[in-house]
Order: sequence, then C-alpha cells, then structure tokens
Amino acid sequence: MNGKELLKIEDLEIRYETDDGIVYALNGVSLHVNEGETLGLVGETGAGKTTLAKGILRLIQTPPGKIVNGKVYFEGKNVLAMSDHDLHQVRGNAISMVFQDPMTSLNPVMTVGEQIEEVIAVHNNSLSKEEIRERAIAMLKRVGISADRIDEYPHQFSGGMKQRVIIAIALACNPKLLLADEPTTALDVTIQAQVLDMINKLKTEMNTAMILISHDLGVVAQTCDRVAIIYAGRIVETGNLRDIYKNPKHPYTVGLLDSIPSLTRDTKRLKPIKGLMPDPTNLPSGCPFAPRCNYASSACSEAVPELTDRGNGHLVRCIKDISGKEGQ
Ligand SMILES: Nc1ncnc2c1ncn2[C@@H]1O[C@H](COP(=O)(O)OP(=O)(O)O)[C@@H](O)[C@H]1O
Ligand SMILES: [Mg+2]
Repeated sequence: MNGKELLKIEDLEIRYETDDGIVYALNGVSLHVNEGETLGLVGETGAGKTTLAKGILRLIQTPPGKIVNGKVYFEGKNVLAMSDHDLHQVRGNAISMVFQDPMTSLNPVMTVGEQIEEVIAVHNNSLSKEEIRERAIAMLKRVGISADRIDEYPHQFSGGMKQRVIIAIALACNPKLLLADEPTTALDVTIQAQVLDMINKLKTEMNTAMILISHDLGVVAQTCDRVAIIYAGRIVETGNLRDIYKNPKHPYTVGLLDSIPSLTRDTKRLKPIKGLMPDPTNLPSGCPFAPRCNYASSACSEAVPELTDRGNGHLVRCIKDISGKEGQ
C-alpha cells in the first residue's frame, strides 16, 4: 500500500466564468495518491469533485472553465504544463476516467466487444485480431460478464452491466490511475454493492491506483485506503480511512458520518446536515461551513482556516478542537 507517489496535486484552482458570475469551483486543492492506493474523495453535489477529476486530465472546457493556478504532477511531470503529445499518452494510457452516467459513456452503435477491442488495439499495435479479441473476452470476464455477450450492443445491457463494460474499457489499457467519478451513483443499492466489490477486486488484481469519487461516505468505506473530504472547493479533512471514521475532526465530516444510515447504530441519531453549501459565486470570507456548523463562533467567519496536521497525516481545516464532543 505504501507505494511511490504517483499523483500529486498542488494548490489547484479552477473557476467557471458564467453570466451569473464567477463560480469558484476549486479553491486551492492539494492532495496525493500513491501507487496502488485508493483515495476516496467525498463531498456534496457541487463541492467540486468532478471539476477536480477533469482538472487532473485537463478536460475542463474553456470557456467557461479555467484552471487559474496549481500543478498536477503525474509520475513527477506536471500535466498542466505538458505538450499535447505527452498529454495524449497520459490520457490514453496512464490515467483512465469513468464518469457517473453509464448511459452517455458508451457508443450505442458499436458492440461492447468492439469498444473494448478498440482500446486494446490502440495500446498494443503488435497484437493480432485474434489476440485482441481474446484480451477483450478476458477483460469482460474480469468484470463479471460472460464471454458470449461480447457481440451485444450497450442497449442490451442493464445499468449495472453497462457500468461494468465501462470499467472494462477504462481498465483495458492497464492504467496506473483510475479516476472513478461516482461510478455507482446511478445504480440501485444492491447493484451498487456488486459493482463496488468488483472494483475492489480489480484494483487489487491489477494494482491500479484510484480516486473514487462519491457523495456518500458509506460507499468509500468499502474501498478506500485514505479519504479526502471536500467542501466548497476545498479539502476540509483528509487522512487514513480509519482515522476519518473513528476520529473525525471536522464538523462537516462528523455531519456526513451522522447522515449515513448503515454507520449510525442508533437510527434516532440519523440526521442530515442542516442548510446548504454557500453560493460558489459568492463564497464567504471565513470558513464556508460556519453557517451550518454547530460549533461555529465569531472567529470562524474571520478567515478561511488553514489545513493543519493533527498527526499521522490527518489534516483538518478547522480552528476548533471538537474531538470527543457531541454536536448540537
Ligand atoms: N460547465 C460549468 N459551467 C459553470 N459552472 C459549472 C460547470 N461545471 C461545474 N460548475 C459548477 O462548479 C461547481 C462544482 O461543480 P462539480 O465539480 O460538478 O461538483 P460535484 O462533482 O462535486 O458535484 C458547482 O457550483 C457547479 O455548478
Ligand atoms: Mg460530480
């Protein structure tokens, strides 16, 4: 698990310039992922998760989007300053991305086999047609789809099966890093658990590092080594999975944990976090979570707290020490 550092993001800032004003989507995000490691990135809708994933691959559309600051080192090279040729290598080879909606990511007029074969062919130009097909069948089996479905079209597959095909395509080039943006959100709960199990098995087998994005802290609990919690475009807490679950230190993380049914032993305690994320075109000058926070005092609205180390790589962006205290 303690592989070399594969990805390192430093101070990434991304904005969208819209008719309604500037959307401050990412406001100085730093994080890293080691080889073979899974980082869970968790936050509410609008927190900046997809913007971060797309930013890593320079897939932010300009306009309206704009990367205004930061560095994204992949194996020591800054993706944001790479030549188009190098970027092409990273996108097609080294980093794959799975998007949230399985319906829009597959080509409806190609069989699933053709779509997997296409990726394998691009990355292995010495292979024969038969070898490519064999590899495609092996990849399908790996994601739990039987070989006899290889010539079927995407519409013949259920949502969960489509998402398996998408993961097979993403992994067919044997990437070092998989960016999985809410890969199970569109699926119902049982199917979601099966797909997560499969992802877990695959990343171990293939030793692929992963950023697993979810709005649900419960989902990442099954899969991740480390967790980063994002709120209004900033990481508010990050650390080992165990530290985040057993000893959360940011009131927002505590709120997220309290709102997961499976983790809340006493269902009477189950409570959603009150209020909404601040308007990203008009962020407050202090802690953006303060208006929703049970622990907030006037000091909290003075400045955005720094991300500070509370030991063992557990970083927290809060001026309070809420350890051991109950909310309300
Ligand atoms: N193309 C876009 N144009 C304008 N605003 C955008 C665009 N994409 C995302 N945003 C805004 O950026 C913020 C972060 O969005 P996003 O990264 O999609 O969050 P998440 O994936 O966590 O739900 C949100 O306020 C969202 O409305
Ligand atoms: Mg998203």
